[in-house]
Formats: sequence, C-alpha cells, structure tokens
Amino acid sequence: MNILFIGDIFGRPGRETVKKLLPEYRKKYEINLVIANAENMHHGKGVEETQLKELQMAGVDFFTSGNHVWHEKSIIPRLDDKKFPLIRPANYPPGAPGRGHHIIETSLMKKVLVINLMGRVFMPMHLDCPFRTADKILKEYEHENFAAIFVDFHAETTSEKMALGHYLDGRVSAVIGTHTHVPTFDARVLAGGTAFQSDVGFTGPIDSVIGLEKTSIIKNFLTQVPIKHEVADGETVFNAIKIEIDENTQKAVSVEQIQKYLENF
Ligand SMILES: [Fe+2]
Ligand SMILES: [Fe+2]
Repeated sequence: MNILFIGDIFGRPGRETVKKLLPEYRKKYEINLVIANAENMHHGKGVEETQLKELQMAGVDFFTSGNHVWHEKSIIPRLDDKKFPLIRPANYPPGAPGRGHHIIETSLMKKVLVINLMGRVFMPMHLDCPFRTADKILKEYEHENFAAIFVDFHAETTSEKMALGHYLDGRVSAVIGTHTHVPTFDARVLAGGTAFQSDVGFTGPIDSVIGLEKTSIIKNFLTQVPIKHEVADGETVFNAIKIEIDENTQKAVSVEQIQKYLENF
C-alpha cells in the first residue's frame, strides 16, 4: 500500500497547488490513500468544511491537524461527528471537542488507523503526554488487524519528533512530523520498520515566512508590535512524502520525499 502524506496546506495558494498536482501524483506514484494536514487551509489559520470538500474532490481522503484547528469556529462542532474526515491531536485533555484518531476504510477494503498527536516542547498549551497517549490508543486496538498505522506528530522540535519516532518504531507504520512548515532532509525507515521524517514541510507560498507575507513578519520581529499578517502570494511549493507499506506486516518498505515548485500563483 502506498500512502501519500501532504504537509500543512497553507491558504488558497496551498489549496490550489494541491488541486493542481494531486490528481496526477495519485496516478504517477500509484497512491492508495492520501492524508493531509489541514490546520492552515483557511487563510493560513484553521479550516472550513467547504475547503475540506474542495480538497476531497482533488483526491485527499483524510485530514489531520494541529494547534490552529480551533481558529475557524464553524468546524469545532463538526469534529465530534465520528464520520467527519478531520481529526485533531489526540493528547488534548479530556473534554476537548473532536477525536484524535480515526479508522479509515480504504478503497482496497483495508483498514488504516490514523493517529494525530501534538508535541509539548516550545508549545504554549498544556497537553497530555503524546508518548503515553500513543500507547493508550495502540493498546485499545491491539487485537485489530490494520493494513497500516499512520501517525502525524505536530510538533516544534526535531528532538521530540525523533524521540517519538524511535519510541513507536516497530509498532506503527509511520511517524511523520508537521507544524514547522520546513521540510527536513531525513526521511528514512527506522530499524524496526517505521517510516520517519522530522517534518514533511508545508504546501503553500514559498517567498514568505512559513506562508505569511514576509515584510510584515520582519516588521513584527523588528518592532515587537503585533501586526495583522496576510498569506503571501507568488511561487508555491508542494511538500509531501510517499510511504510504501507492506500490509501483511504493517511495516514501511520505503519512503520518498516529494517536492515540487509551481510558478503560476
Ligand atoms: Fe501549520
Ligand atoms: Fe501548527
């Protein structure tokens, strides 16, 4: 089974980039399942249901998220719908709306468990332990037979991401990082058969500071005065990772980082 995971899709430029490239990439890379991080789809922060539908039409099957998922309030009550194709990090404390994992029934009639977790290092919120939360979810499904178990770890530091990758090595098919919007050149299959990348990078405007218009961000750093930021325009980048998984063992066989620049935005 081939899974394509697309990093944080940023604003309209990110959505348009996915819509333009994904139909071709699904065929070219023989992809069976496409998962994407949706936390920045609405003007750089949050996501609306119409935007999820827009990208489902382009070939995304399921969405993970992160700290910005709460920004567009209309999505919050939808997160409790067990069939809704968007989850939020599983280690939010009890009582937070939504779910942190989901079982996808793929077109191949195979089940894939998707888990979304968030890091705690350099994150302002006080979440439960992502390591123990992963243990708890895996324990809950220890007797289930999945074709693959995919983890999106939405976190700031490479050390926390690598630690979770090694912690879950051999127990899940992939641990792929999101949130920094910058891809790391370290995609590999770990010793126990888990695909790992510290951060897959974002999909959105590249002549920017992590997707936002660069001059206002620079001004913000210089003056320390809060300024309203806009989504940048111009050239975009598509960042994703293809993970080939042996469905019988749940282990990753190979990984391939995919990066493509598009000029027409
Ligand atoms: Fe993000
Ligand atoms: Fe984030």
